[in-house]
Amino acid sequence: RINAFSSPLLAGKKVVITAGPTQEPIDPVRYISNHSSGKMGYAIAAAALAAGAEVTLISGPVALPSPAGARMINVTTAIEMADAALEHSCHADIFIATAAVADFRPDTVHPHKLKKTSTSAVMDLHLVQNPDIVAQVAALGSKRPARVVGFAAESRDAEKYGAEKRIRKQLDMIVINDISVAGLGFGSNHNKVTILTGESRTEIGPSLKTDIARQLISFMAEHWQLNSS
Ligand code: CTP
Ligand code: CA
Repeated sequence: RINAFSSPLLAGKKVVITAGPTQEPIDPVRYISNHSSGKMGYAIAAAALAAGAEVTLISGPVALPSPAGARMINVTTAIEMADAALEHSCHADIFIATAAVADFRPDTVHPHKLKKTSTSAVMDLHLVQNPDIVAQVAALGSKRPARVVGFAAESRDAEKYGAEKRIRKQLDMIVINDISVAGLGFGSNHNKVTILTGESRTEIGPSLKTDIARQLISFMAEHWQLNSS
């Protein structure tokens, strides 16, 4: 068994990670967003750093300390995250998308705070779809990172949807997280995941997210034999 701490499994490898939620402004005081603590992505960044990688962490707003040694790119919206991901992932060895990207954003951002009116009890928001960041990175062509990894948080039929996402987004690997399991996932320090590649299925956990992160990094290095190149 390879241990991420005893040998630099990813020495000199360039790893780019997206983490946390994105926030999509409605007006100067309001936004729409997703649940995401960022813990899994930050733990993966720390594990990749411990394995000797050069890590760029593109993060939405979270309440976590930056992993020591990571190059931090702080962003707010999905479009900012997409721009940063495309800029920094060119020729990376591994791109890992853990971010909970808001799928939609308001089509216009109001320059002033929207006011309640006495005439209407409802309010309509018109939303447009955000870019699919990991799919865009996986479609970079000659600049594509050698390996592209996605995450899928699903509340039902987790493996079926996860397998479909891996193929649709042209990912080398997808890490599936079944959020219907009580006490795991969002906000929690624990998680249990299933990893699918084109040719393998591997379960990790339930364990601490920090431990899952180390095992994921070891699995990637081992599966793709990255330390032998
Ligand atoms: N993802 C991304 N950009 C988006 C949406 C998702 O990079 N605009 C990435 C996530 O970071 C994750 C993977 O795609 O690695 C799967 O995210 P998920 O929300 O499960 O997939 P979606 O394609 O958005 O499908 P769904 O309709 O289930 O939300
Ligand atoms: Ca989504």
